[in-house]
Amino acid sequence: MLNADRTDPAVLREAIAAELQTARDRTAALTDCVDDRDLTAQHSPLMSPLVWDLAHVGNQEELWLLRNVGGHDPMRPEIDPLYDAFEHPRAERPSLPLLPPDEARRYAHEVRGRVFDLLEASPLEGAPLLDAGFAFGMIAQHEQQHDETMLITHQLRQGAAVLAAPPPPAAADRLPAEVVVPAGPFIMGTDTEPWALDNERPAHQVDLPAFRLDTAPVTNAAYQEFIADGGYLDPRWWTAEGWAHRMQAGLSAPLFWSRDGGQWLRRRFGTVEPVPPDEPVLHVSWYEADAYARWAGRRLPTEAEWEKAARYDPATERSRRYPWGDQEPSAEHANLGQRHLQPAPVGSYPAGAAPCGARQLIGDVWEWTASDFLPYPGFTAWPYKEYSEVFFGPEYKVLRGGSFAVAPVACRGTFRNWDYPVRRQIFSGFRTARDAEDA
Ligand code: AVJ
Ligand code: FE
Repeated sequence: MLNADRTDPAVLREAIAAELQTARDRTAALTDCVDDRDLTAQHSPLMSPLVWDLAHVGNQEELWLLRNVGGHDPMRPEIDPLYDAFEHPRAERPSLPLLPPDEARRYAHEVRGRVFDLLEASPLEGAPLLDAGFAFGMIAQHEQQHDETMLITHQLRQGAAVLAAPPPPAAADRLPAEVVVPAGPFIMGTDTEPWALDNERPAHQVDLPAFRLDTAPVTNAAYQEFIADGGYLDPRWWTAEGWAHRMQAGLSAPLFWSRDGGQWLRRRFGTVEPVPPDEPVLHVSWYEADAYARWAGRRLPTEAEWEKAARYDPATERSRRYPWGDQEPSAEHANLGQRHLQPAPVGSYPAGAAPCGARQLIGDVWEWTASDFLPYPGFTAWPYKEYSEVFFGPEYKVLRGGSFAVAPVACRGTFRNWDYPVRRQIFSGFRTARDAEDA
């Protein structure tokens, strides 16, 4: 959402149209760069074929905007079950009679044309789905979330590089290792962020003891020390479940890393390169992050700690939308939106610092937290149970902050992501914390 005055419906309409267009341009960039065989292939059992995401994005847009908001009849009711994420697990999707690439593109394009007509005529208020353009914002975020999913598929895809982007900015500063967040209450979650999704609501007070937090995410260099010190060989650092998984999956380094003589290499979107020491470590599971933290004599931050570090401003005693304040993210604040195809080195983005001094909380890498994905007190599913509610429980861990692959529209201080603790094809990293009784 733009900084402009969103209470003016004409301004809001323009902002929504721009967000929908930004998402569609990205979807096109991710799907026009490969041929039809690549679009329909399954590059990993963890992922859908790209052509599934393409039509699913159109189908969700048709369902929420044209049918639920606009009252239109279904355009192609026979395809709905194919694109319902709950009917068919990802591994099954390649064997479904999916729309071929050209048809999928045409369908999504046709939906979008009608959505623009609907937007033009909509008062953008007067119904909960319409207020502040919520359903339109939800759909722009949904497409961008699938764009990140498609970027993960690109990373898993074998073969020559098809994507390109300029490198991220260099480090601006050398940072102290950790920052202190003093004890006290803060407001977690939101009642006012217009496009916040149901699991970010409602706002509620959380009182935390003082803690210390890494100023920046754990780097590849630091993670290599854990590997070199035998971190993957010592069950002391791992939970029982984590160790069982490490043994069964044969983990010995982050996903996409390989060893060449004395040097660690990684494969990144089709290119093999030396692992950059100062970049946040990427493609680690929750179990690996947790083991690293114990090895370092520390722990993962809780989700509440992460959010307090990212949002609480002691000067005003209020929670901000972003670490740097309430303004929308710009290229100076954070590494977002696939502007670069990798995290930035730690010490970048001084303009994105939080009041506590922590850096790079938004963008770069999703950060694993110690917390299970649970509802906030007073949660109500909105507008559908399958966005969040069906996932609440101890089997999912929360990730915060967004990666370089997250669009600004789908990223803020309150945004919550979740995944299984074994997952590491996602753009996941972490930072560590410790108690600070003395602060
Ligand atoms: C919030 C990223 C876990 O991709 O599974 C997309 C987002 N929900 N379509 C996912 C989502 C429905 C979701 N995550
Ligand atoms: Fe979806």
